[in-house]
Amino acid sequence: MIRNINISFSYKEYDNTDDLEPSDRELLQSAMEAAKNAYAPYSGFKVGAAVRLVSGKIVNGTNVENAAFPSGICAERTALSGASSNYPGDSPVAIALAAMTGSGLSEEPVSPCGNCRQMIAEEEIRNKMSIRVIQGSKDKIRIIEKGGDLLPLQFSRDDLPATLH
Ligand code: THU
Repeated sequence: MIRNINISFSYKEYDNTDDLEPSDRELLQSAMEAAKNAYAPYSGFKVGAAVRLVSGKIVNGTNVENAAFPSGICAERTALSGASSNYPGDSPVAIALAAMTGSGLSEEPVSPCGNCRQMIAEEEIRNKMSIRVIQGSKDKIRIIEKGGDLLPLQFSRDDLPATLH
């Protein structure tokens, strides 16, 4: 028996920040500001993330690179870890991303890497709440309503033996 299974999701694309809801525009603006604080001497790709919590609080993060390359961390995980550490119980509802290259904001919307998608997915599961992902760039903006949709067939706690959770 063979089953063909199709997974699909949809997202919105905007041509201008003016078309965003004010709270999303504010969050993206915060991510753009945060990008200036990134420590990215090796890649030159300065990423900023801004997490909005249920309370409305915004927590920023940036990528922090390291001479031992794998020791560096992405902006998304810095921001989500900061939110979880400082405001436990105040669940993330959205995360905005922006990246600066040498010449200004990136031409294309920043897409979270696989590791970051994994963390976004677990935050959604543990807080029982979707996290909207707002991917900014110079002009175009993408909004994905549920971050976990970016990681189909994801590994999660349910894949671990019951003794581990
Ligand atoms: N990076 C992020 O911070 N977030 C992303 O979504 C993509 C990649 C960082 C990791 C590294 O410091 C630099 O961008 C280049 O990959």
